[in-house]
Amino acid sequence: MIIDVAALDRDEVYKLLVGAVVPRPIAWVTTLNALGRVNAAPFSCYTFVSSAPPLLAVSVGRLRGELKDTARNAREGGDFVVNVADASLVGPLHQSSAEYAADVSEVEMLGLETIPSIAVRAPRIAIAPVAMECRYDRIIEFGAQRSQLLIGEVLRFHVRDDLYRDGKIDSVALSPLGRLGGPRYTTLGKIITMPPASPGNPVNG
Ligand SMILES: Cc1cc2nc3c(=O)[nH]c(=O)nc-3n(C[C@H](O)[C@H](O)[C@H](O)COP(=O)(O)O)c2cc1C
Repeated sequence: MIIDVAALDRDEVYKLLVGAVVPRPIAWVTTLNALGRVNAAPFSCYTFVSSAPPLLAVSVGRLRGELKDTARNAREGGDFVVNVADASLVGPLHQSSAEYAADVSEVEMLGLETIPSIAVRAPRIAIAPVAMECRYDRIIEFGAQRSQLLIGEVLRFHVRDDLYRDGKIDSVALSPLGRLGGPRYTTLGKIITMPPASPGNPVNG
């Protein structure tokens, strides 16, 4: 099947993208709004784009042309926290994507406890096994919908003690939640460990 993007409308292209770019990690982003309420929402169009400095990038779309609370709060407040959810948190994470009014706190609605951050104003979600305090770096706009690529510099990592060993995070024990196309999530499947690739010694998986 060969699909010409020029023949598709925006929704059709979106459906192909979210089915092809899989599995996606999920940034569960907490921000503070102008009234000091804590906003939380999941974003799976997300990665890191630099390690020195450590920069995370989260693509925040628009809703009926308007900025989403996360993009507005991060830009106006100057910071945000990316919380990492494990599989047990799929319920509250998913529910936090509902379209709550800007002055409603998702964490209060969902009974999620938060903990003050150290280096930024936005708090983190207490039950999240990993969280990254980020200072707002910039927003880059993309496309006809002017979606907001939110960039933040990680200033603090919070890692649950049992997941931290020798300077690394045990990502298998973390059991991170991932996102597939449509309403589907995934957890880790079979783990495949490979030796370093070398030109003279091809290895088959
Ligand atoms: C698992 C998951 C991943 C999502 N990923 C994105 C994303 O990458 N970009 C985006 O704009 N919206 C994404 N959404 C939708 C937002 O979470 C939703 O629009 C939310 O209401 C935004 O909240 P806010 O207005 O408080 O920022 C996702 C939703 C779910 C459930």
